[in-house]
Parts: sequence; C-alpha cells; structure tokens
Amino acid sequence: MLEHGGRLGRAVRDYGIPREAWLDLSTGVSPHAWPVPPIPPAAWHRLPEDDDALLEAARTYYGARHVLPVAGSQAAIAALPRLRPPSRVAVVQPGYAEHAHAWRQAGHDVVTLPMDALLARAGEFDVVVLIRPNNPTGDCPDMEALLALQTRAVSVGAASAAIPRQRARPPRAPTAAETAPTGKPWLVVDEAFIDGRPEQSLAPHVREGIIVLRSVGKFFGLAGARAGFVVAWPGLLDALAETLGPWTLTGPTRHVVAQALSDRTWHASARIRLREDSSRLANLLTKHGLSPSGGCEFFHYRVHAEACALQHALAEQAILVRHFDNPQALRFGLPGDDEAFARLDRALAAVLA
Ligand SMILES: Cc1ncc(COP(=O)(O)O)c(C=O)c1O
Repeated sequence: MLEHGGRLGRAVRDYGIPREAWLDLSTGVSPHAWPVPPIPPAAWHRLPEDDDALLEAARTYYGARHVLPVAGSQAAIAALPRLRPPSRVAVVQPGYAEHAHAWRQAGHDVVTLPMDALLARAGEFDVVVLIRPNNPTGDCPDMEALLALQTRAVSVGAASAAIPRQRARPPRAPTAAETAPTGKPWLVVDEAFIDGRPEQSLAPHVREGIIVLRSVGKFFGLAGARAGFVVAWPGLLDALAETLGPWTLTGPTRHVVAQALSDRTWHASARIRLREDSSRLANLLTKHGLSPSGGCEFFHYRVHAEACALQHALAEQAILVRHFDNPQALRFGLPGDDEAFARLDRALAAVLA
C-alpha cells in the first residue's frame, strides 16, 4: 500500500498527541464540506438502483453525456489498467502515486516523467496519464494543448498499428478489455482537483481515447463517501462497469452525492471561498519564507531541502502536513478557519525561528 495524507491515527500514535489536538493539513480535501442532510432510511435498506437521480445530476454537473459513478476515482485508477493489453504507459511524476502503481501492478511498461517531458514525449506511448491540476505541483496543462496532443496521438497510433510490434507481448488471458477499443492510445486525465475551475475541465470534450476522472471527495469535502466519476466513451464505460460489477456506490452515497452535485448555489460560494483561502495560505507561507513552488485551490506545494525535518517539527506542534521525497517537498492543505490559519502561522514562526 502506498503512502497517503490523512493518516491522523498514525500521527496520534507516533507523536503521543490526542486526536482532537491536531490540525490536519495533510490532504487536499476541502475543509468546507457540503452539508450532508439526514439520509432517508430507504437509502440504507434498499439495494441501490442505477436509474435514481444520480446519473442525471452527474451529467449536468460534469457537462457530459457518458458518465460512470465509481467508489472514488481511486476505484477507476485501480481498474483501468486491467482494460488494456500490455502497453507502454507514461505517468506524470511527481503526481498521485496510485496511477503508476496501478499500471505497474497490471504488468504494463511504465515510465514516470515530469509534466513538461510527459507532454513533449506523449506520442511515444500507448497511454499517457496526467493529473490537472497536478497533485502535488498544481501544474495544469492547457485544455486545447491536450486535445491537440490526443488528436496527434490517435493519428500516429493509427499509422503505427499497421506496423507489427518489435517487442514480443507476453501471452494473456482474455479480459474485459476485449470489449473496449484497446488498441488505440489513451489519454487518462485525472481531474480530482479541477472543481474550483470547472470551465477548464476536459469532461465536456471527451471523445474516444480520452478518459477523465473526477472525484467527489475533494471539492465537496466528502472523501469518506468514496464517490467519483469516470467520463469517457460508451465502450470504455461499459467495459469498466463490467469489471467493477454492480452496486459500486452505496445507497446513502448515491443519495447524498446526487444532491451535492445539484446544489449550484453551494458550488458557487464554495469556489469563492476556496480561492480566497488558497491565496490566504499562499500569503502565509510566503510570509514565512516558504513561497509556494506550486499549488491550486485546494493546497500549496513547496520544494524544500529540509522538508522531512520541517514536517516532523510541525507534527510536534500537532500540525500534520504531507511530505514528498522526490523531490523533497511539503504540501499544505487549506486551514478551515481563522483559528486554524493562526495556529499554522504560530507554528511556522516557531519551527522556522
Ligand atoms: C490526484 C488524485 N486523484 C485521485 C485521488 C483519489 O480520490 P478519490 O478516490 O477519493 O476520488 C486522489 C486522492 O487523494 C488524488 O490526489
């Protein structure tokens, strides 16, 4: 299992500080969660039905006709590699490490590249996986550039499909991939953190070969509900649905997420608040000599040679931040209120003194 933020229980044990004393800034989950209303008993008692309000709410929210609900975008990240025969895959680095891990585990030939190199060399691969805005760096490649890149990849892929491959492919058992158009290149775009600027999402522009992953955990602050969506072409979604099986989302989650996706007034105010808090956090870090190396509405990222020691020193002050080691860096999630900002301010002053 890979390392993730949000491991508060472990911090409690490691530092001997009670849970309620911690300020957890170790994830990119918004501290301003959509307010979950009471859940009707039937949502617990009946089997979930896929013709409830969820799909229509998701189509409207994502601006896309073909969407598949999944138990967190992580469920799709783990399953997608099983829908292709062994492929040459390029994944952005640094980035959410589960992507490269899942493609490797499924036996693909995986290369990790910084965003610029990934975009420049995209044509060399069968599958390109990137995150926008990237977690943790915040890089967000331009939508038009990505669409152009995918068009080029499809035409190059079509030409090279006529040439027999040099490298022998290991034998394999037939998979759900047989029903998906597997030979063509894929561009997998993880937009878990794009809800702060939905006009930049690729979801409404999806076509064959483009797979967009969206998360309900970050913007709606509903990480525990385990809900996300895949936006792609119908053949791919059918193959993925087949692989994941029925009832991927629980009844209570379907009920809550359908309402959250439809609450446009809340979406608008949450976006404003995220933008304000994000720039407040950037200013605070800058004041302490940690001007962000990157970031987005949900977090800021700072490359720092002493990142590990800084994380430890902040943890001793009961503030949990995420450490990355390639390169050495920290990621700060958004403090949820004035008191949390003040605590981070005091702790950074003490730690950096
Ligand atoms: C970039 C990115 N994508 C996807 C995920 C998975 O999110 P979820 O499964 O909650 O939708 C995460 C979780 O941190 C993430 O950082």
